[in-house]
Amino acid sequence: MTDGLPTTYSDPVHIAVIGGTGLQQLPGYVPVAVLNPLTPWGHASAPIHILKHNNTPIAFLSRHGEHHQFAPHEVPNRANIAALRSIGVRCVIAFSAVGSLREEIKPRDFVVPDQIIDRTKGVRPFTFFEKGVVGHVGFADPFDDKLAKVVRECGHALAGDGVVLHDQGTVICMEGPQFSTRAESNMYRAWGGSIINMSALPESKLAREAEISYQMICMATDYDCWHSSEDVDVEMVMANMGANGDNAKRLVGAVLDELSKEGHEALVGGKHWEGSVAGMLKF
Ligand code: ADE
Repeated sequence: MTDGLPTTYSDPVHIAVIGGTGLQQLPGYVPVAVLNPLTPWGHASAPIHILKHNNTPIAFLSRHGEHHQFAPHEVPNRANIAALRSIGVRCVIAFSAVGSLREEIKPRDFVVPDQIIDRTKGVRPFTFFEKGVVGHVGFADPFDDKLAKVVRECGHALAGDGVVLHDQGTVICMEGPQFSTRAESNMYRAWGGSIINMSALPESKLAREAEISYQMICMATDYDCWHSSEDVDVEMVMANMGANGDNAKRLVGAVLDELSKEGHEALVGGKHWEGSVAGMLKF
């Protein structure tokens, strides 16, 4: 749906938010275009909405589609990242609901993860490098520490509004769409996992290949099934997402405000990248 808005936008859009549809209803943001670029990997999961705030355009993309029609294993991650890169994006704030694997991370708390353990099953296309285009990128630290610092500072500044934010955590990315067994949930805890979702991969790997700085903001919606409270189900996840939606919007809005300020050009413009792996790809 383009809502009568232009379907082209000539200036590069450096910053994007990948996440739920509600996140683009941020106060003070004016819709200016809806883009649907065709990439070598097809179309993104939804048209990309461009909204302007303080003269900075921001791209919003619904990971699971405008009607939540893509299950986690069906999300067209390569098209999503390639589409964002093709309009100029070099900095992604990715939002995700997660289960908590730690008592101290309570439902509705936010976590800025710094590590990932891959428990996807290899069924999702996970690289741009194939068919004669060979590349290898470092992934020891899957998230961008400079972006993480901005998110942490914005989160703590909102403590008075009821935002509880944990500065670090290891996210287990599982295949789904079924939730974990109790034995798996306990194993992830023994491995040092803090939170669990179905979305961190391959999104973050593809962003790294595309030379896009990437940080996930996670919001705990449940305690997964290791906990003695109720076992997780979709209703519980959706109820906590809804109940904490205003805080999620406040946090994402504050991060975008900060990133739009002078002084963050290198971070959001991608100028800190040394090489050009992405140059090998036809974005
Ligand atoms: N997303 C939200 N809660 C989750 C859970 N418990 N496991 C996997 N993904 C989730």
